[in-house]
Amino acid sequence: MFKVWIAEPIPCTDVAVEKLSPHAEVEVSPVFYEKVPPGKLKGCNAVIIADSFLLEESLVGAEGLRVVQKFGVGFNTIAAEECGRRGIYVCNIPGINSLDVAEFVVGSMISSLRGFARLDSAARRGAWSERPSLVGERLSGKTVGIIGFGKIGREVARLLGPFKVRILVHDPYVDPKAAGDAGALAVSLEELLSASDVVTIHVPLTEETKAMIGARELGLMKPTSTLINTARGPVVDEEALRTALKEKTIRHAVVDVWSREPVDPGNEILKLENAQLSLHQASWTREFFEAGMEFCAENVLRVMRGERPLNVVNEAALRMVGKQGVKNETGT
Ligand SMILES: NC(=O)c1ccc[n+]([C@@H]2O[C@H](COP(=O)([O-])OP(=O)(O)OC[C@H]3O[C@@H](n4cnc5c(N)ncnc54)[C@H](O)[C@@H]3O)[C@@H](O)[C@H]2O)c1
Repeated sequence: MFKVWIAEPIPCTDVAVEKLSPHAEVEVSPVFYEKVPPGKLKGCNAVIIADSFLLEESLVGAEGLRVVQKFGVGFNTIAAEECGRRGIYVCNIPGINSLDVAEFVVGSMISSLRGFARLDSAARRGAWSERPSLVGERLSGKTVGIIGFGKIGREVARLLGPFKVRILVHDPYVDPKAAGDAGALAVSLEELLSASDVVTIHVPLTEETKAMIGARELGLMKPTSTLINTARGPVVDEEALRTALKEKTIRHAVVDVWSREPVDPGNEILKLENAQLSLHQASWTREFFEAGMEFCAENVLRVMRGERPLNVVNEAALRMVGKQGVKNETGT
């Protein structure tokens, strides 16, 4: 029987189990493996995986593996090319959580400008006398810089519509007209950083975007500004961000993603008060998990039926081994 392994205790796995179990043997891992250990995929035909790393060494013994379905967008955690060389599809689920991330980002902009964490802390202490020091700022009228104008970046711009903010966009791979159509202005990275009150990052992690926000870039930002990173930790030089927050050369940061995940409990950023922190959960809504699990299960069923799955991300490597008929149907 076709064997599916859900590699982590991801929320709402019951949706996938219900859909798959009439057709396949399904096992849900009760533990989170930072890396899928060698030999673990023996006898397995499909894997649904979220945050665990699936490296080349994880493929030892994985002769029957036909598809790795990433529960998420960024697939930098998967040895996608190596999978392709072995004729294994690697698929992601782009778009399903764009709204969830965008809502988190816009909510974080307001929470950062109004200082929700400080208001909450003062209220719990009954510190009425602190009220004069707890004056926030409006989002309306501010300048918001969006780095990376793909699905999430555009969704953020759309949600910002009623706030009447000025939106600057930096994305060298997008026609500036697309920014104009969304009511934004395409600018250089330097212009965006120096003019924005809030900067939000929505690029994938690539060789080019790794540490694209370092000490120099943080130095261009206003001392009153906020940096929001829900993209990938290594896109921001964490050491430089920590220094900027400590020395208050920027006012606040929203950090959802980390240079190393799971985040090291000794990470200095965890101790800073001028940062809003979360554990890579910008997209975590019930609606996202339900829709995502439904999609992953359906894609695995496609492979079982001998059809091509959707959203293949390692097409080039698959083509090299002559695996035909692979097409990314969402065009991403
Ligand atoms: N925190 C979370 O829970 C969460 C959830 C979903 C996605 N993400 C991250 O968000 C990223 C963006 O997601 P998306 O769906 O919008 O992806 P997308 O592919 O639709 O958009 C990414 C955009 O970044 C642009 N880009 C690439 N290199 C760039 C560079 N050097 N400078 C500026 N722009 C550049 C691309 O042209 C593209 O328009 C994902 O790759 C993923 O890492 C995080």
